[in-house]
Amino acid sequence: MTEQELFNVLERYGQQHLLVHYRTLSRSQKDAVLRTAVSLDIHLTFRLYREFCLGKDVGHTTAVIKPSGVIGIPGDAQEKRMAEQARLHGESLLREGKAAVLVVAGGQGSRLGFEGPKGTYALSPVMNKTLFQLFAEQVKALSVRYGTTIPLLIMTSDDNHPDTVAFFTKNHYFGLQSEKVHFFSQGVLPAVSQDGKLVLRDSAHLYTSPNGHGGSLKAISDSGVLAKLIASGCEELFYCQVDNPLVKIADPIFLGYHAMAKSQASTKVVRRRNIEEKVGVYLNLNGKDAVIEYSDIDANYMSALDEKGDILYWAGNTAIHIFSLSFIGDLNRDGFALPYHCAKKTAYVVSSDWEPANIDIWKFETFVFDAIPMAERTCCMEVSREEEFAPVKNKDGADSPETARRAMSELHRTWLKQAGIDTPPGTKVEISPLFALDADEFVQKVKGRTINVSPEIYIE
Ligand code: UD1
Repeated sequence: MTEQELFNVLERYGQQHLLVHYRTLSRSQKDAVLRTAVSLDIHLTFRLYREFCLGKDVGHTTAVIKPSGVIGIPGDAQEKRMAEQARLHGESLLREGKAAVLVVAGGQGSRLGFEGPKGTYALSPVMNKTLFQLFAEQVKALSVRYGTTIPLLIMTSDDNHPDTVAFFTKNHYFGLQSEKVHFFSQGVLPAVSQDGKLVLRDSAHLYTSPNGHGGSLKAISDSGVLAKLIASGCEELFYCQVDNPLVKIADPIFLGYHAMAKSQASTKVVRRRNIEEKVGVYLNLNGKDAVIEYSDIDANYMSALDEKGDILYWAGNTAIHIFSLSFIGDLNRDGFALPYHCAKKTAYVVSSDWEPANIDIWKFETFVFDAIPMAERTCCMEVSREEEFAPVKNKDGADSPETARRAMSELHRTWLKQAGIDTPPGTKVEISPLFALDADEFVQKVKGRTINVSPEIYIE
């Protein structure tokens, strides 16, 4: 970007305060400003500011909302046969190298209060394995099981990219082939103060925020990784968040249901714990399946009950999805298709009076689940919370490291029980993904092995 182009943009959007500031910078600082400004979509930022911040309408109040069709947890013999058929289908896709795995890890993890990428948080109950290690070991075990090499994609943000890559390098990619692990950084957008001014992070950099996890569907394309996967014959992308240690990576049953339905965007849901739980809700919005975030949906829907007194909109979004690669390509065909959301946040910035301070800013982001209503075909599958969903969001209380560790231990205690080994409640149990990926595999492999029951059990 030339100086004149920068001046024109700033003048057009009433950002003269930055022009005044720019003129006070040294030559090298000015060059730094020009280098970063070129990659920032300032036009988009002000379009969003006008759209959201000068009179926002959430937009779901007049919508027609209904519960949506979900494949339930198999109960009777017929449903179990269907699940088995889906598993076989999914397994053949894995064997043929048709699936890749994406973990989105670009968030700032502010609620957890952990310095560093969330994936480097030591979480497992006995061995303190990090979230990244737990995911990488699953990818490795699946690759061995299906005689293939499943690509692992990690989406980072500018803030945590170098630390994330360094962490994998230091740990020798946890036994994965380094050329099959792809890191790409999500995009950012400048943040805007309440009075419509761009603000600075420091004297030479605008304050920017990551563009939300929906940015993964753009960054995978912009980075060239999408084209590389498609060229290698891959067709489906298993998507999950870095915060859930129970996620069943590339679950063959889920892959099978997704493929059998010819779905472009599939989702796993759990029953909402109660009407207060802060999860997005999977439902049918104006005839299309969709997820609406708890904060964006009318409270009457969140608390609605059915005739039996159960939660009517019961399907809570686990943020575990499968997207077809061709569909991701479509979303990027003509600009990026996902809509933006706007959130108010307090940030420590250098504002227009040049004093660093905590002020309220608007940040703009995209949500990956907004791709669902854009798909022609979708699929949604209910899973058990105890087996697949224990996100780490907060430092303490609900959805914290403590609840996630307990959930891992409890799940693995049930695997031991299925193998005929009883453990007292509260026993810490951890089974390495490299030993077994699920209860069936565990029961098979553990036969004939002596397991000493102690307060902490690790099986590898
Ligand atoms: C999210 C979902 C919610 C779902 C819940 C399940 C949204 C808005 N809501 O809530 O519907 O029920 O998970 O646990 O997403 N991330 C990035 N880049 C970003 C922002 C986030 O990579 O710019 C990643 C984070 O690293 C994290 C994940 O996305 O892995 C979740 O983001 P977060 O904003 O914390 O969403 P939740 O409030 O947890």
